[in-house]
Order: sequence, then C-alpha cells, then structure tokens
Amino acid sequence: MEPTRERAWETLTRYTKSEALRRHALAVEASTRFYARTLGEDEERWAVVALLHDFDYEIHPTLDEHPQAGAPILREEGWPEDVIEGVLSHAEHLAMPRDTMLKKVLFACDELSGFVYACGLVRPTGLDGLEPKSVRKKLKQPSFAAGVHRDEVYRGAEELGIDLDEHIRNVVEALQPIAAELGLRTAADAA
Ligand SMILES: [Fe+2]
Ligand SMILES: [Fe+2]
Repeated sequence: MEPTRERAWETLTRYTKSEALRRHALAVEASTRFYARTLGEDEERWAVVALLHDFDYEIHPTLDEHPQAGAPILREEGWPEDVIEGVLSHAEHLAMPRDTMLKKVLFACDELSGFVYACGLVRPTGLDGLEPKSVRKKLKQPSFAAGVHRDEVYRGAEELGIDLDEHIRNVVEALQPIAAELGLRTAADAA
C-alpha cells in the first residue's frame, strides 16, 4: 500500500475518536514536518509516522499494550516496516535505539508539542508571542501540564543535538499555522 498522509489520517481516526488525541497527533505531525523540511527529508513519510505514533492509544491506553500491541494492526493494514519501527521507537519502555533522524525528531517533538500546546491554551493570544523563556519557566512548574514528562522533553532535545530554546521556538513556529485546528486562540482573536 502507498503510505500516504491521507491513509495515515484514515487509520488514526478509525481508532481514535478523542478530539484531544487527534489534536496531539496533528501537533506532533506539524512539528515533525517542520524538521523534515529543515533537514530536507521525506516530509510525507515523517508525517505518516507522526500521525500514527499514538494511533492505538485509545484502544491500548496502558504501557503494557501501547504502542507494541498496535504494531500487528499496522502490519495487517499493510504499513511498511520502517513506518511501524518509527512508531514503536517513540516508546521509552521499549528501549529501541533511536538510530535515525526521524526517530530522534519524533521523540523530541512528542512531549514538547503537547507541552507547547498546553502553554498556548492558557494564553489569550495562544502561541503568538510565546517565548522559549516562558515555556522553560512552565517546564519547571510540576503542576502545569503535569502529564508531560519533563525528562523526555530535555532528553529529546539533547539526543537531537539542539538547544532547547531553539527547539521550543521551532515547535511554536510549527504549530502556529494549525492553531485554529488545534482549538487555540491567536493574537487576532485577542485584538
Ligand atoms: Fe505514545
Ligand atoms: Fe504522543
């Protein structure tokens, strides 16, 4: 089968009805695409892996199933092995080597996209004007977006070999064009 973005969205939405999870997938997709473009990589392929990375989370909400129990479903649907391997690689508990740029980028964008999104939700101007400094400050407040694993945010940037501020700036920039889709306000709404 042709691993297109359209098919990935179809698979994702067949298994994922939650708006929040769909938005998470879209946010990780946008961030991963940003890096694919910057690095001159296969943007659609990276987008497919990003969209699918948590496709089974709704049906497999615990780590003894997610994402490993999703892999046979993807295989059954005919997704290529490199896509499935990319999906599996984001899970810390599977301890798979992140030996490609896509795997490093996906891991680096997964938790941070969610965190930046949470920062955007509580601001009247959404992501507009959101600076790395204020994101870092919020990272130090354990009660804010408590579900986001801080250690994975820091390690993701480290493994990618990018300064955290630059990484935050990239993710903010990547999410801005889809702010409305993510249900975020913008500076225009606040005006
Ligand atoms: Fe996951
Ligand atoms: Fe995720």
